[in-house]
Amino acid sequence: MPDKKLGVLVHGAGWVAGEHIKAFTANPHTRIVAISSRKIESCRKRADEAGLDGIAFYTDYEKALAHEGVDIVSVCTPQHLHAANTIAAAEAGKHIVIEKPVANSPVEMRAMLEAVRKAGVRTVVSFVLRWNPLFDTIKAMVADDTVGDVYCVETDYQHDIASWWTGYEEARTKEKGVSALLTGGCHAIDAARWFAAKGRYGAATPIEVFAYAGGYRKGLETEYNYFTSSWQKAPPLEYDDLEIVLIRFDNGVLAKVSVNYGCVMPYAFPIEIFGTRGTIKDNRVWSHKFPGQRDWITIPTILPESADVSHHPFQGQMDHFVDCIQGGIESHCNLEDAVKTHEVVFAAQQSYVTRQPVKLPLEGS
Ligand SMILES: NC(=O)c1ccc[n+]([C@@H]2O[C@H](COP(=O)([O-])OP(=O)(O)OC[C@H]3O[C@@H](n4cnc5c(N)ncnc54)[C@H](OP(=O)(O)O)[C@@H]3O)[C@@H](O)[C@H]2O)c1
Repeated sequence: MPDKKLGVLVHGAGWVAGEHIKAFTANPHTRIVAISSRKIESCRKRADEAGLDGIAFYTDYEKALAHEGVDIVSVCTPQHLHAANTIAAAEAGKHIVIEKPVANSPVEMRAMLEAVRKAGVRTVVSFVLRWNPLFDTIKAMVADDTVGDVYCVETDYQHDIASWWTGYEEARTKEKGVSALLTGGCHAIDAARWFAAKGRYGAATPIEVFAYAGGYRKGLETEYNYFTSSWQKAPPLEYDDLEIVLIRFDNGVLAKVSVNYGCVMPYAFPIEIFGTRGTIKDNRVWSHKFPGQRDWITIPTILPESADVSHHPFQGQMDHFVDCIQGGIESHCNLEDAVKTHEVVFAAQQSYVTRQPVKLPLEGS
């Protein structure tokens, strides 16, 4: 019987790649056929970890894209390479998983969109928290009118991003990482968009952004290490560690979103949703649906409370993407949608310069 499984090439054999490999290996309709990276040892390490035999390794991405049987490419390289890697994959006719952030500028995003539209391939962007069980539960409750009409959403990415992270050396720079909101905070913007839309699957469209940047870590050669609860010498962040953003959506919902790399605490991702008939605070609910309630109802579920990639629901994301490819439908989390999340980041950058609100979509989009 012919092997009908979709073949996957994972490009960039680092921390997050291990989870992409696990997820595509576990999906019954896909198999890893090749891994490419800067170093062959990194490809081999990921393959060994996953118990994969007989797959190809490449240090040349073009050759890897030409490997027989590649249908899907997972772009897991550092963010400054995502645009070029995605465009090359689209031109080769592959469906693409794009790690966040998708690009370092609006210009790059536009070129990616053009290549993906022209090739007619499917994409999914790794705003993987959309598949977190608490996210899914909240989204279902909002769709089911548990809080009435949402009028305000607050989400925060509170995470001591520092030299413990394999990607830190490049991501900490202004040139390759750009900003805290781009490197990590984009997860919180995406969450605000997700919860601000009432539909079961769909994210709200931002139309205006105002933001402040600050904090204390920029240029500081000392960092907190929350694994050892101590301070140590480390290369500095080249951008502000704190950004606070106000967003107005086209459906009238307002959001307050922050990224905080200076927090001295373990990772946290608080969520607050205020509606005309109820409120959700993380996994606690107050709702008109429960008229007799006298205290918050707490839902036992998995919260977004770990930064470890092994805690992230990549299986849900990849299973969804395979369903989209096989069903010939677009993901709610495709590149077109992710651009709206990223535009908030770039609008915030403009707002720091002009000290004015910035209208979206950005000019030229
Ligand atoms: N969605 C999420 O929740 C989530 C979580 C974690 C990370 N991420 C994102 O995923 C991306 C990768 O992060 P990571 O934590 O996996 O970083 P990482 O551990 O540093 O891995 C990046 C890999 O890319 C490879 N690479 C670097 N330059 C390359 C080049 N020029 N050509 C080919 N390969 C190259 C490196 O390969 P070698 O080892 O061969 O040198 C490295 O193994 C980042 O954009 C990050 O923000 C997303």
